[in-house]
Amino acid sequence: MFKELTQIDQKPEVFSVYTTDKLWTEPHLAEQMLQAHLSQETPMASRPLIAIDRVVTWIDDMFELNGKSICDLGCGPGLYAEKYALLGAKVHGLDFSVNSIQYAKGSASKCQLEITYEVANYLEKALPSDQDIVTLIYCDLCAISASQRQKLYSQVRECLKPDGTFVFDVFSLSAFDSFTEHCSFAPNYMHPFWSNNKYYTFHNAFRYEGDRVSLDHYTIVEEERTWHVYNWIQYFTRESIRTELADNGFEVIEIVNGFDTEEANSSSFGVIAKLKL
Ligand SMILES: C[S@@+](CC[C@H](N)C(=O)[O-])C[C@H]1O[C@@H](n2cnc3c(N)ncnc32)[C@H](O)[C@@H]1O
Repeated sequence: MFKELTQIDQKPEVFSVYTTDKLWTEPHLAEQMLQAHLSQETPMASRPLIAIDRVVTWIDDMFELNGKSICDLGCGPGLYAEKYALLGAKVHGLDFSVNSIQYAKGSASKCQLEITYEVANYLEKALPSDQDIVTLIYCDLCAISASQRQKLYSQVRECLKPDGTFVFDVFSLSAFDSFTEHCSFAPNYMHPFWSNNKYYTFHNAFRYEGDRVSLDHYTIVEEERTWHVYNWIQYFTRESIRTELADNGFEVIEIVNGFDTEEANSSSFGVIAKLKL
């Protein structure tokens, strides 16, 4: 027991383990995350609809979506994709959660919206070409490592028209400042989020000061198995995202403080980038 607890409490190397796919695609968790997407009570998977409206209106004001082709990476159940389509955009939504894509297709068909949805990993699958806009919304860029981000930038470069635009958001240092290290243990924490069975959860939260990274490590102990989820977050300054994009063939056109809020010191900010000519 002492050895196991020591292991659980160990701080791993930054981004040394990737389990994000498990969180979204393991059937039980995928269903829980879909419910979280659709709930107005928790910001776990998506912003509330009122904030989504604000972001979409802002994107539309900026780019006039009518007639534009837009590829929404990590589209989930299509909360943004449907709004883009209602504004006249030609939308291609992509997500590796079968549950979410099934829901998105059903919802689009009910609303009589023509949207192309695809189950795919945007780090691996060739993306549709000739897009006016690529979106990656709700700070998903922050959940992947530096090498995965490089892969993603290369995918987006291939996907965009030469004058196309990449629109995304990232967590700011103000979110990092409010992240505190802690360690907790609870029987059936958030039950049945992690499993329908009885379980015990250890939650170890770590900060990586110099890297501006945080980790929420969940260890779920069930009768038959013990398993782990590692939720990493990379936080950015305006300067660090500008530099990273410049190193990957993009130029930042605008940074929007408070993508979904009026607050000046918001926990995330929006980025609009174009391909460097
Ligand atoms: C935080 S949610 C945001 C969903 C949506 N953009 C929204 O704000 O409502 C992240 C979404 O990205 C998807 N996702 C994460 N990594 C992915 C990847 N590598 N390929 C495809 N989808 C991915 C997840 O399945 C999930 O639906």
